[in-house]
Amino acid sequence: MKNYHQLFISAREALARAYTPYSRFGVGAAVETDDGRIFGGCNVENVSYPCGTCAEESAIAAMICGGGRKIRRILITSDGKELISPCGACRQRILEFCLPETEILLADDKEVKKIMTAAELLPGAFREF
Ligand code: THU
Repeated sequence: MKNYHQLFISAREALARAYTPYSRFGVGAAVETDDGRIFGGCNVENVSYPCGTCAEESAIAAMICGGGRKIRRILITSDGKELISPCGACRQRILEFCLPETEILLADDKEVKKIMTAAELLPGAFREF
């Protein structure tokens, strides 16, 4: 497996800043753009639960705000024991900025354990016609 060190470090740093007083479940994500820049994001919860945002959502927002448009890789990690994968809404959010070769990397607290393609992430996704 390739070395995703920088992306992993960024996602773990983002995870350390997660705001999760309600679920106590931190998630960190890091996006690498097609021009090699990295943007991190964490989940940010709210007392009005549905107002909370996911880590992937935060990382994508940071990428867009920084002028990025295409995701080469996105790495997702959490402070849970099991490997997590993006929620349904985040699968749609990620897909919006994917390339055919985009890698979705799922990591535990040590390393990348699983790699998914965009097609695997959301089969039969809605597309405008
Ligand atoms: N969460 C994420 O940040 N990303 C996901 O893909 C799934 C869930 C967050 C939302 C909430 O703050 C916590 O994990 C527990 O659901």
